[in-house]
Amino acid sequence: MLSQTFLKLGVSFGLIGMAMGVYMAASHDHTLAPVHAHINLIGWVGMFLAGLFYAQRPHAAAGRMAQAQLISAVLGLLILTPGLAGVLLGFSFGEPMAAIGSILTIVAMLIFAIVVFRTKASMI
Ligand code: HEM
Ligand code: HEM
Repeated sequence: MLSQTFLKLGVSFGLIGMAMGVYMAASHDHTLAPVHAHINLIGWVGMFLAGLFYAQRPHAAAGRMAQAQLISAVLGLLILTPGLAGVLLGFSFGEPMAAIGSILTIVAMLIFAIVVFRTKASMI
């Protein structure tokens, strides 16, 4: 089920993001703090929230828009965060990757916004 996929992705990114936070705290190297921040915020918080929404709205979860959102969100985060790390570490691949990842991430959000606006509470 799509809601389960979002929830599982959310907790998985949460574990990765927090492990990175623990490593940063232990090593006193906070260079990649924005990467940690976005794995946690877009990955853990954003995806878990989408999962909770779709768990409450199975009708919306069954649609193609929800699938498109899932694909765009996952690809977006997997491209955005290494891209952001590249920018922070001074690699030239960073900026184009971060740009592509950002576009996919915001497209996922746009799709989600359309789904949320279109979904009526009675459509459960
Ligand atoms: C085990 C859990 C976590 C640990 C050990 C941890 C650790 C850290 C560390 C060491 C920094 C760098 C701080 C600095 O450079 O000033 C940081 C930054 C940050 N963390 Fe976490 N973190 C954890 C969980 C989370 C979670 C769950 C979120 C969000 C949902 C989060 C959001 C952020 C944000 C937004 C920043 C950047 C703050 C800024 O603007 O400097 N962290 N974290
Ligand atoms: C398309 C999606 C997004 C892009 C491209 C993006 C990009 C950025 C960039 C370029 C920065 C500055 C990083 C730096 O100072 O080096 C930033 C900071 C930050 N963003 Fe995002 N962001 C996105 C989504 C979000 C979302 C959805 C949240 C929260 C739910 C968020 C929370 C933050 C926070 C807390 C900071 C400060 C973190 C820090 O300074 O370490 N961002 N973001």
